[in-house]
Amino acid sequence: MKLDTILVLDFGGQYCHLIGKRVRELNVYSEVVRFDISPADIEELGKNFHIKGMILSGGPLSVYARNSPKFRKEILDLNIPIMGLCYGHQLIAHVSGGKIMPIKKKEYGTTYAFIDKPVDVLKNLNKKERVWMSHGDTVLSLPKEYEILAHTENCPIAAFKDRARPLYGIQWHPEVVHTEKGMEVFKNFVFRVCKCEPNWRMEDFIDNAVGEIKSEANDKKVIVALSGGIDSSVATVLASKSIGKNLTAVFVDHGFMRKGEVESIKNLFQEFDIHFVALNEHKKFLKKLKGIIDPESKRKSIGEEFIRTFEKVAKRVGAEYLLQGTIYPDRIESGYRKHSDRIKTHHNVGGLPTKMKFKKVIEPLRDLYKDEVRKIGKKLELPEKIVSRQPFPGPGLAVRIVGEVTPKKIEILQEADAIITEEIEKRRLDRNMWQYFGILTDTKTTGVKGDARAYGYTVAVRAVQSKEAMTASFANISYQILEKISTRITNELSDVTRVVYDITHKPPATIEWE
Ligand code: XMP
Repeated sequence: MKLDTILVLDFGGQYCHLIGKRVRELNVYSEVVRFDISPADIEELGKNFHIKGMILSGGPLSVYARNSPKFRKEILDLNIPIMGLCYGHQLIAHVSGGKIMPIKKKEYGTTYAFIDKPVDVLKNLNKKERVWMSHGDTVLSLPKEYEILAHTENCPIAAFKDRARPLYGIQWHPEVVHTEKGMEVFKNFVFRVCKCEPNWRMEDFIDNAVGEIKSEANDKKVIVALSGGIDSSVATVLASKSIGKNLTAVFVDHGFMRKGEVESIKNLFQEFDIHFVALNEHKKFLKKLKGIIDPESKRKSIGEEFIRTFEKVAKRVGAEYLLQGTIYPDRIESGYRKHSDRIKTHHNVGGLPTKMKFKKVIEPLRDLYKDEVRKIGKKLELPEKIVSRQPFPGPGLAVRIVGEVTPKKIEILQEADAIITEEIEKRRLDRNMWQYFGILTDTKTTGVKGDARAYGYTVAVRAVQSKEAMTASFANISYQILEKISTRITNELSDVTRVVYDITHKPPATIEWE
């Protein structure tokens, strides 16, 4: 069954992903897509989803700014309802020939909107509504085919509709909790205007995934690539529920895991009622990476070695299918869509070799974000240790060692990373962080240790806050804690002479260094 779907066009606003979530909270599926999605891309997505509406997100720029993102005008002719929020609202007005101006008194935070016509997306709203605004520009005039629905003290056109087409603009942010009737606006758009069926449910997800895996596996044997992280663990438990004894979970220890991690994963999964195989493949992976410096080549080599190892196990157990815990951001970053740029080749997506001895790769979590996978993990009663585990990339420390990977470098990074983890976790700072870890840079610098010259590695500390890893901000760790981390690393590791803190957001940087 094709799910009724609302696309959220991402203009870079802080709350873009929140819009998608709000729609899903109404049990309607939604996907965040690029702002410049073309009608052809929409048609392509339409093969899997029933696209019933589009929401244009907010964004940080003025519509007049050079390089400000614009949607493709042709999407207005698809007869799919569109609602623009904040920047999206201004953009519809701008593209249609309306006038946008910097507002005299900028509106940030709580404001009151006066609803002049409580119709369509504003149905059931009171005359005066508390809303949340964050804008420096405002729509001053609109062509006559538009009708004004609301205003605020400083903003003459706070909401509008096209008289003929299902096209709406709202200056405030209904997705933010401070907007009192925010969900009412989403309900109106999703159900009243787009006529969606509420046919998406987190609980249903489990049943659907279990059914889907069963039908895809078709009574044949399957191996699941289990790294011990939340995504692959949830995928494993779903697959086990679905096909039971036909499943073999394969944990490949490539030698790039963090300190103590291999033992803890083995101990945990040996307790599960799952056929579990753990393989030590250190030598093979190291050999494969010998001399490789380029990050993309590293990722592809690791992706290939993983597959070759899985093929070996598959042959032994007679499996025809490979199941992976790939999630949506893995696919976005690997540039799975035609017009999206390849940021990096996630080992389990773009890093897969073109030739594989598997009939198919099954990916039950392919459309979810990490926080949704966590929710499913909780529903499946996975141990808290797994559910709250910080994300760890499949290629492991190999993409946290800049340049060639050697046993010595792995050892240094494992130790440095363990110190960072310990210092963060003992202060419970991990609760507010998406990830915190060490990077071994390829820069060696001069130092002085015990009155003698030292020439050693530079370790970078990376700690970020994020909601779904598509964007991230570096974490505001106090100098005192950073000092403790730096002192411990340089004292305890003779090969390290310098520690630096990475103060770059994503974008422009990515979370991992490679
Ligand atoms: P970046 O570095 O792209 O990472 O900002 C976004 C999130 O994805 C994780 N990551 C990966 N996960 N295979 C994975 O399973 C990979 O190849 C990979 N690369 C990055 C990263 O840790 C972060 O949470």
